Amino acid sequence: MANVKFKVQLGGTIKGRIRVPGDKSISHRSIMLGALAEGKTTVTGFLEGDDALATLQAFREMGVDIDGPNNGNVTINGVGLRGLKKPNKPLDMGNSGTSTRLLAGILAGQDFDCELVGDASLSKRPMKRVTVPLRLMGAELETTEDGTLPMIIRGKGQTLKAIDYTLPMASAQVKSCVLLAGLFAEGTTCALEPAPTRDHTERMLNGFGYEVHSEKLDNQRMKACLKGGGSLKGRHIDVPSDISSAAFFMAAAAVSKDSDLVIEHVGMNPTRVGIIDILKLMGANIELENFHEVGGEPVADVHVRYAPLKGIHIPEELVALAIDEFPVLFVVASTAEGQTVLTGAEELRVKESDRIQVMADALIAIGVDAQPTADGMIINGGKQSPQNAEIQSHHDHRISMAMTIAGLNAVSEIIIDDCANVNTSFPIFIDLINEVGMKVEVVEEK
Ligand code: S3P
Repeated sequence: MANVKFKVQLGGTIKGRIRVPGDKSISHRSIMLGALAEGKTTVTGFLEGDDALATLQAFREMGVDIDGPNNGNVTINGVGLRGLKKPNKPLDMGNSGTSTRLLAGILAGQDFDCELVGDASLSKRPMKRVTVPLRLMGAELETTEDGTLPMIIRGKGQTLKAIDYTLPMASAQVKSCVLLAGLFAEGTTCALEPAPTRDHTERMLNGFGYEVHSEKLDNQRMKACLKGGGSLKGRHIDVPSDISSAAFFMAAAAVSKDSDLVIEHVGMNPTRVGIIDILKLMGANIELENFHEVGGEPVADVHVRYAPLKGIHIPEELVALAIDEFPVLFVVASTAEGQTVLTGAEELRVKESDRIQVMADALIAIGVDAQPTADGMIINGGKQSPQNAEIQSHHDHRISMAMTIAGLNAVSEIIIDDCANVNTSFPIFIDLINEVGMKVEVVEEK
């Protein structure tokens, strides 16, 4: 396969009005719940990125008739909770942790054996966080000794045991895995999370007519519960634009002088808007316009204009609400005046790459004063020294995109190696970033 490199020309002013592709988390769930529902589910705005396509392909291989995607339109002919069929080969999850962990929950309740495999990055990521609760529910699973893929799930066709599970980390993937397994369990399954994480699974289950009860226990902890053995009814899902993709453009407009950018129809789920709160705390000029709701998810147009930024200590309660946005937030921090400190974000070390180490290395390579810590980073912003650099993305789409945005304020050329991974979440990233005012050249090396 060709190595795709991004050559980033320095500077640029970000202007325009754009729409970024559909939300990745919601796209995954639309296929999963659509497949498990009775009747037809139609989806518009589906993200045609490799991760969501891996989920779609997996359900096709389990016998679900799915039309599309065609310009973001997908039709899923649901087979009901008990209608999936044994696939003929291992299901390839590609780079996608969400596909793997949510599917593990669904597969634990089937009456067939199934194997999940993934690429080099996914095959290093921790899966014990899902095998532990699933085993408590009576599921039989095998992984490597390190608790990584490949994973074999032995479906016994028996009903799982409901559990009341306290998650050791704030993870929507683990919460969703437990709740999805709970559909196949006898009794009420609950997932208690140490801090609120994205709640798309709960919202969408409710939208499919499957009741999930969510409750705030105290300031931080959330508990979501559902009773097994019900049924989901097919419906229409309009996927809003992905705030995690929009984040690269918010950051770009926030750090480039004279910028003025509107990003339309962006998902504003309160469990995802940490990026906006953090940028505002740093002094960014962001206005939310045209607030409305589509299919149970709030959306708005995000209007960003340049304003000088300052370093901050990022409040820990915002970490889970901005968990995918830290690569680009580190880039923003490197341009802000003064020190930015992130703590309480050790989960970043087990994403598609170790995002603390990889981003610290990348920023240091372009002359930024950055210091990785066990659970975050310290960045002394606003004083980059010139240094030409070739950056490695480490199989991580968000590193490729974040380091592209770094080109707006860098003082020397940036080349990013191994960027085909941008297709996992944002296939038109380069077209859009060039449209709004950057100059990024894509070079394919055989
Ligand atoms: C996701 C949850 C998050 C996030 C990932 C998508 C989801 O992971 O990083 O990109 O769709 O549930 P964790 O739940 O492991 O934090």
